[in-house]
Amino acid sequence: MPEPIVIIGCGGHGREILGIVTAINEHRGDTWKVLGFVDDKPSDTNLRLLKRLDADYLGPVAALAAMDARFVIGIGDPRVRARIAERTAAYGLKAAQLVHPDATVGLDNAFSEGVVLFPGARVTTNVTLGPHVHLNQNATVGHDSVLGDCTQVNPLAAVSGSCSIGPRVLIGTTAAVLQGIAVGSGATVGAGACVVRDVPELTTVKGVPARP
Ligand SMILES: CC(C)(COP(=O)(O)OP(=O)(O)OC[C@H]1O[C@@H](n2cnc3c(N)ncnc32)[C@H](O)[C@@H]1OP(=O)(O)O)[C@@H](O)C(=O)NCCC(=O)NCCS
Repeated sequence: MPEPIVIIGCGGHGREILGIVTAINEHRGDTWKVLGFVDDKPSDTNLRLLKRLDADYLGPVAALAAMDARFVIGIGDPRVRARIAERTAAYGLKAAQLVHPDATVGLDNAFSEGVVLFPGARVTTNVTLGPHVHLNQNATVGHDSVLGDCTQVNPLAAVSGSCSIGPRVLIGTTAAVLQGIAVGSGATVGAGACVVRDVPELTTVKGVPARP
């Protein structure tokens, strides 16, 4: 029996996640039954795009409280995702873990609930991904790295081995984090940056080498 699932956020990231759920169903047989999307302030454009995807809008996020379903937070901004995660924790529902069939996962990894791997994402060995970590298309995470709650790794970014990435970190598109680096909670790594030194919490770094 396919398990019911609700996607939070009907923006681009949420609609991309609908694509991941669809790919999982096509690849493994019907695993998920998508009930629809919840969103506190859906734009007219997003509602129109949902219709084109044949997906239903179910109401504000609070509507989840009355549902018996898994959920996934389809919001790309790690801080907003963390705020939503706090709210959903009160509803007592479990988040789904979604791994696109074109993602690869190596040995002995620990993924928490709510983790999403987009197509082409690569995780090697002994990696820990905290709740609601999303690895976007073609992002890679090397051996022994740990990524904290709600951290977002954008397309083509590479987190090398033995990195310690805090919660609510955004790693921008095509950025590289060199081996053994620690990135503090709430930090932002700019697109295309090469991080060669530890990044303090709540700090934005950019450029090559990345500087605050
Ligand atoms: C680094 C970043 C967080 C800065 O955001 P911001 O504070 O709003 O920056 P601004 O756009 O105001 O630009 C400030 C300055 O930084 C420069 N800058 C912005 N992003 C940069 C980047 N990634 N690398 C180098 N310089 C950058 C701008 O050119 C500007 O320079 P100037 O003051 O000399 O004109 C952001 O640009 C970024 O790279 N975010 C990641 C986005 C991403 O991954 N998107 C993919 C979504 S799937």
